[in-house]
Parts: sequence; structure tokens; C-alpha cells
Amino acid sequence: MRLYIDVVGRCNLKCPSCPMGNASVADHVGGSMPPELLRRILEKAVGETKPEFVGLYNWTEPLLHPRIGELIEIVNGFGLPCYLSTNLNIAKRLDAVMKAAPYFLRISVSGFTNDTYRKHHEGGDIEVVKANMRTLAELRDKYRADTRIELFYLRWQGNLDEEFLMQEYAESLGFVFRTEWAWFSPIEKVLAVLSNDLTRVTMKDVATIERLARPFRETIQTTLKYAPMLGRCTFFDDYLVLDCAGRTALCCGVYDQERFTVGNYLDHPLAELMRLKAADPECSQTCRQCMGYGLPALGLDIPELGNVAIEHVLKRYAAKLGVSLVS
Ligand SMILES: C[S@@+](CC[C@H](N)C(=O)[O-])C[C@H]1O[C@@H](n2cnc3c(N)ncnc32)[C@H](O)[C@@H]1O
Ligand code: SF4
Ligand code: SF4
Repeated sequence: MRLYIDVVGRCNLKCPSCPMGNASVADHVGGSMPPELLRRILEKAVGETKPEFVGLYNWTEPLLHPRIGELIEIVNGFGLPCYLSTNLNIAKRLDAVMKAAPYFLRISVSGFTNDTYRKHHEGGDIEVVKANMRTLAELRDKYRADTRIELFYLRWQGNLDEEFLMQEYAESLGFVFRTEWAWFSPIEKVLAVLSNDLTRVTMKDVATIERLARPFRETIQTTLKYAPMLGRCTFFDDYLVLDCAGRTALCCGVYDQERFTVGNYLDHPLAELMRLKAADPECSQTCRQCMGYGLPALGLDIPELGNVAIEHVLKRYAAKLGVSLVS
């Protein structure tokens, strides 16, 4: 079982491809998870399943937690790999984080200059991120932390030419460089787009989708092909996703707590929470639609999905150069 726990209920940025930036629901649970609650959650988790790792994030920004260092130490204390993913716009708690030495820390970006970065990391400042990257590397060395630090570059139309600059900078600090084709979230919004439900999709969402380097419609045409092969959904069965109050969500891809929260993790055995997810009409209807489009394939390593992106990018560059690709 893989655990993703939102230790806070908010983010400092408003990325348009993330529910923190595009959600129409405003009543997401706020606050910060008390360290004692995390400890009780992990005690229960190790008692009833084999946690593979614990991510202290899902839809939110872990560095906003005032006691993030303590939370990492709690996870480490259980002998479990602690994963963080951050936009790294906040310098305040870097010392505590590196002192606690999580197993893995990802820095998510989408550009090397602010003109590019701010299109997809709204409210952020890449110069602050770059300065914080340097501080992080210094603290890693100071504390001799063996944390694997990864620079995660989200690929969009218009930011590919800056990728190499960020790669050079990240690798000069000893970070691992990885890329991913950006996608649009959450799942309920993707389903709303696919069913032309204009009550749940804004013009800004449409503009964001149009900037995807791996185009929306072609991606869905590809996941549709994989739908009959999926069988079960690994995100339903193999992941436990909790909010900062310790409540269990259907999976890591949905956001609306009103529709997709099934119960407090501490109040129910895991097997019962699984049954609650399966029995909940809202959850099961969403899963049926999601599986019907083959959306879980997006979280699997399927080379054909990468080819969809490459083909689109090459066609755009060719058009810019005034040539056409011969197949
Ligand atoms: C929603 S974020 C929350 C954690 C943290 N705030 C961050 O941005 O890294 C969870 C993960 O989603 C990834 N992510 C963000 N925007 C994405 C996008 N448009 N497509 C694919 N993954 C994305 C991030 O890199 C991160 O690892
Ligand atoms: S992707 Fe991360 S940084 Fe961006 S709004 Fe979502 S939680 Fe915040
Ligand atoms: S089928 Fe879709 S909505 Fe249901 S658990 Fe899997 S990823 Fe989530």
C-alpha cells in the first residue's frame, strides 16, 4: 500500500492545471495535521497493511506545515521512506526539512524564467525557487542527508526550450532531473470536459487544456484503447489517500471532498474503507466513467502516451519552421 497524506489543506500557489488553482468548490478542509494524528495514522497503517512509502502531499504544499520537520521524523521513525513534493517557493522550513532528511524530495517546476514559469505555476517566482534549490543543496551537504532530490520538470507547450537550462542548473547542484508531460486535474474535471458539462468547466480550464504539450483529445483516444486491458484500478486498490483531518478519499486523482470522502481513517479498518469506497454511489459512478475512458492508464508507464506528445510537439515545431513531417 502507498500512502499519500495531505498534511495541510492549502497551497501558496494556484497552478491552473491543479485543483488548488482551478477548483470550483471552495470548502476544502483547511488547517494542518497535528503530528500526533500522523503518528496514530501510521501506527494503524503498519498494523493493517504494508506501507511501501508515505508521501506527505497529494494536492497541497507540504512546506506550509509549520512542523514539517517533525512530520518527516515521525515517518522516518516508522522505518518508512518519506516522500515530499514541493513547489519550493518557501524558504522558511528548508533547514528543518533537510535536518530530518526525508528519503525523497521532489521540486516541481515548469520553466527557467518567470515569463514561462508563471503561466503554469501561478503566484510563484522561479528566481526564488532557484535560490532555494541552492540553499537546499547546501543544507543537504551540511547535514550529510542522503535524500534523493529530484527536479521534476513539467512539460507544456512553450516551455520545452527552457528545460535544458533547468536541467543544467539542477544537475550542477547534484539533483536528479526528470520530466513529465503535464496533464490536467482533477479527474472529476477531466470527466466534466469529456461530457461537455459546462457548469464545471471554465474558459480558463479550456485555455489550460489547449496548452498541454500532450494534447487532451489524442491522449484520451489513446487511454480509451487501454480501457479494456485495465481490469482493476491500482489507484483504488493500492493507494491510501488522506486529507489533513485524516479522512479517506476515493483516490489520489479526485479532489471534491463533498463527493469523494468516505470516512475517517482512524474510525474504520482498512478493509471496511475499501468496501465504503466501492459502495458509495458517487465514487462508483465516477470510477465507472474513469475506467470507461481508461484514465488510470495515465498513471502507468505506457510509451504510446509519450509518443502522442512527441508527435504533437514535432508537428508544432515543423509548422513553425514552415515544413511538414513526412511519415
Ligand atoms: C498537486 S502536487 C502537490 C505537491 C506540491 N505542491 C508540488 O507541486 O510539487 C502533486 C504532484 O503533482 C505534480 N503535478 C503538478 N502539476 C502537474 C501537471 N500539470 N501534470 C502532471 N503532474 C503535475 C507535481 O509535480 C507533484 O509531484
Ligand atoms: S501543483 Fe502543487 S504548487 Fe501547484 S497549485 Fe497544486 S499543490 Fe500548489
Ligand atoms: S477508477 Fe479513476 S476515479 Fe476510480 S479510483 Fe481509479 S483513478 Fe480513481
